Amino acid sequence: MPKIANITSKNLEEAAEILTSGGLVALPTETVYGLAAHALQDKAVRRVYAVKGRPSHNPLIVHIMDSAHAEHWAKVNSMARTLIQAFWPGPLTLVLPKSSRSVSRIAGAELETVALRCPKTTWATAFKNFGFDGPLVMPSANRSGHVSPTTAQHVADDLGDKVDMILDGGECQNGIESTVLKIEEDHAIVLRPGAIPAEEFVPFISDLRLASKPGKLIAPGMMKSHYAPKAHVRLDATNKRAGENYIAFGPTDLEADFNISPTGDLKEAARNLYSALRLLDNKDVIAVAPVPTEGLGAAINDRLRRAAANKEH
Ligand code: TXA
Ligand code: MG
Repeated sequence: MPKIANITSKNLEEAAEILTSGGLVALPTETVYGLAAHALQDKAVRRVYAVKGRPSHNPLIVHIMDSAHAEHWAKVNSMARTLIQAFWPGPLTLVLPKSSRSVSRIAGAELETVALRCPKTTWATAFKNFGFDGPLVMPSANRSGHVSPTTAQHVADDLGDKVDMILDGGECQNGIESTVLKIEEDHAIVLRPGAIPAEEFVPFISDLRLASKPGKLIAPGMMKSHYAPKAHVRLDATNKRAGENYIAFGPTDLEADFNISPTGDLKEAARNLYSALRLLDNKDVIAVAPVPTEGLGAAINDRLRRAAANKEH
């Protein structure tokens, strides 16, 4: 098994060394655990695709350790600059036109754009002190198509000893991936609803569009079936049937196998969702109670729809 390492100065130094020399480290972020590799090293990036079993046409997010690095890799217009000031470091990924510089071509699926994210982490400052300041490619640290990991143990369960180190930062705070926003000249498009609800962008963007029609391939990685357990997922379930595991939301008299938020709090539900899907993946069907669609509920429902989608797609 890979080394599951606590966040100590010694382990952080080792992690920085592994990344600098082309190895793979699973790192905690405020959203989910990521599988990190040096973004400028083709060999390391290739290994990320191989370890995840990820199709090469699905590009990786470039993670920078300082928001000031954005302009190095991308053309940042005034809308993007405003969003960076308001939301970074934090769970927002911006898809922007590439600058003349590029990270490993393998990470970019030959697109003219680059997805940039500056995460809120416990390790960036330490890495900088050890002489490594990115950038990193960092997809979620799960097998491609599976549920994202929100604990170090989830990463070990999925990727085992295919990674060189897993840095254990406890349970991720948000528990659901970053919001992916594509910035155009005069409007922005939500490619993936995520940890920042789209409503929060309204004060900053006059023309905000939603592009999350399930099944429609708007972003390369927006496959219909994704974030999926092995079990069939039955949505909007108001009862538990024989032989099913049941995920509840909010106060209920039903016998639940996991209530992702007994008080009906969407933040708590987002934080618990992936743990619940992983834990209850020991029966043929996971039935899930209806979850409201406003605020963070948009991202939760998006992931549930993909978890439920026919895996043939
Ligand atoms: O919260 C997160 O974003 C986590 C943590 C680890 O940072 N990372 C993550 O990465 O969720 P990943 O690779 O699992 O999902 C990234 C998504 C994919 O759907 C990919 O297709 C999309 O971002 N993406 C990456 N580059 C893109 C681009 N240039 N244009 C459109 N979509 C892009
Ligand atoms: Mg992923």
